[in-house]
Amino acid sequence: MCQPVRVQGAECRPGPSPTARALRLEGIRARDGAALDSLLDALADPPWDAEVAPDDEVLPLLRARGFDEYARAVVMARPLEGLAPAPAAPGVRIGPYLNEWADSYAVGEAAAMAAHPFFAHMGPPTGYEGSEGFDAAIAARAEDRVVGFAQAQLPEGWINWLWVHPDHRRTGVATALVWEVANAVREARGTHLAALVPTQSDGAALLAKLGFRRRTERVLLLRRPDDAA
Ligand SMILES: CC(C)(COP(=O)(O)OP(=O)(O)OC[C@H]1O[C@@H](n2cnc3c(N)ncnc32)[C@H](O)[C@@H]1OP(=O)(O)O)[C@@H](O)C(=O)NCCC(=O)NCCS
Repeated sequence: MCQPVRVQGAECRPGPSPTARALRLEGIRARDGAALDSLLDALADPPWDAEVAPDDEVLPLLRARGFDEYARAVVMARPLEGLAPAPAAPGVRIGPYLNEWADSYAVGEAAAMAAHPFFAHMGPPTGYEGSEGFDAAIAARAEDRVVGFAQAQLPEGWINWLWVHPDHRRTGVATALVWEVANAVREARGTHLAALVPTQSDGAALLAKLGFRRRTERVLLLRRPDDAA
């Protein structure tokens, strides 16, 4: 757990951002603009990343201090119970990810995530190319290439990263990856699956089809370094 930073009337917990190459200001709260200014003064230099609810009172204060919105996202979740088993698509093998596939991984991820707002602000490399054994790290492979990938936290079932190469989409690869994640979560005695996905996205469409329900909405903001153009 990251140590909180507190000043009079404001606080946050700085830590690594899961979606941008920046210091994530987790749980940021400020009574007013002056308190927020003191908090920001107490932190290491930007880039800073924040994730807040659309109706959070801190949102306009952040915008006024140069935090730009880079994505609207929604938390989607469902219980494990009732999720239908999904076989891999023909010619695709689903199994634990191995770091020795990192080069192939990087090629697939770049093609799959090119238009994804989290990826645009984050990578490459995202670090997932080295995620062998990191909770549930699952690969989909075809002809010795990584064509799909999912990584999730255990036992929470929080899906951090999920992609399928454009050439292999709409053949059930992501559905099979989510099923494999679900098996790992079940083994770890978890009960749910959840993910943060851009509001209007392929990911949101996929998860809706798999029975995930929309929960809280989030606004993702980035404050660039002071010397950035
Ligand atoms: C989202 C993504 C992982 C889906 O992968 P996929 O292997 O094509 O998904 P599946 O084939 O398992 O799709 C299962 C069902 O989900 C729904 N679905 C998936 N992608 C969809 C899309 N782009 N539009 C509408 N519905 C979609 C469909 O109902 C689909 O069934 P159908 O093909 O019979 O209609 C892939 O499009 C991707 O990598 N996108 C970019 C990265 C991303 O958004 N990642 C997720 C959030 S981090």
